[in-house]
Amino acid sequence: MSKRLRVGVLTGGGDAPGLNAVIRSVTKSLITQHKAEVLGFEDGFLGLIERRPRPLSYHDVSGILTTGGTILGTSNRADPFRYAKRGGADVSHEIVRYAEKVLNLDALVVIGGEGTMGIAARFQDIGLNCIGVPKTIDNDIVGTDRTFGFDTAVGVATEALDRLHTTAQSHQRVMILETMGRYTGWIALYAGVAGGADVILIPEIPYHMDEIVRVVRDREMRGRSFTLICVAEGAMPEGGTLTVQERIEGRPDPVRLGGIGYQLEAALRERIRSEVRTTVLGHIQRGGTPSAYDRTLATAFGSYAADLVAKGRFGQMVALRDNQLQTVPLSEVVDKVRLVPRDAPMVAAALSVGTSFGIEDFPPDFGTSDSSLVS
Ligand code: F6P
Repeated sequence: MSKRLRVGVLTGGGDAPGLNAVIRSVTKSLITQHKAEVLGFEDGFLGLIERRPRPLSYHDVSGILTTGGTILGTSNRADPFRYAKRGGADVSHEIVRYAEKVLNLDALVVIGGEGTMGIAARFQDIGLNCIGVPKTIDNDIVGTDRTFGFDTAVGVATEALDRLHTTAQSHQRVMILETMGRYTGWIALYAGVAGGADVILIPEIPYHMDEIVRVVRDREMRGRSFTLICVAEGAMPEGGTLTVQERIEGRPDPVRLGGIGYQLEAALRERIRSEVRTTVLGHIQRGGTPSAYDRTLATAFGSYAADLVAKGRFGQMVALRDNQLQTVPLSEVVDKVRLVPRDAPMVAAALSVGTSFGIEDFPPDFGTSDSSLVS
């Protein structure tokens, strides 16, 4: 008789809407389709370092599809290859031995962002079988057209823009919305298009202040005395630098961005007559119930990950490409960021409805090279 599969699950990095939906899907699929035993580790890799496995039953993961956060908890400060609490020691080999000899684990399903995928790739290299599931509101993981969490964040940011729109119109103001997104502009771009922002500023296209001023004045002259600006936290003026709110040592990426909206407001105030207000959306984009799209994507990702475990296809990350579930080797995902291509069709769509990206000249054929909106 073949041995029953034993599979670990953990969530790493920041939370994102849909984490619970993946935990539910992977656990239910493993239990019902593959008769596996599932162990959850609390607080990301910390639960593995501190040896805190928790059996997950079908019942344990029922009723969590629609909930935000993660029932397992998460952490972005517990890298087993550089464990801060032990002076930066590499405790990874102890973990591999523990997983093999004590837990008898066949595989670990790791749900997280690029940093978490990097740790999973390194564990795979030293003998702990891993499957990755790509999570982040930023949509910045290479190898997949979509990460779960992104759609919800775009929905929240779009609603914020809709609400700011009415105040902008009523008070004839310039309203700035700062979104998250780390070093990429996916959230600002998609929310900006969905919310009809007049100006969208993203890290991939450094902006010129003169152009933003021109847009505001131009709108004033045309009797549109308000302007809606959607700026990604990683955006910066041409020749400028990132706006860093703080540095938090001990994390894979110590840089915490934030505040470009206020800088933009200060710079605009000096040059235009209209009043300017800034809203920094922050973690509201990350919390709460996932959208229907994120629930379906998370469920599909989870069951696909369970299948990969059953088939023994380790060292892979689940991915969505051309609307198909696929895999990409974890090693190909590590240390990379998926930027918005300057010729993305969504950029072209925004340009064609008159949205400014804060630069004067965009070549006329931008965005025509590929028609896929999720590239
Ligand atoms: O990666 C998700 C994200 O929300 C980014 O968009 C943002 O820059 C960062 O995490 C914020 O991190 P923290 O929750 O540590 O403030």
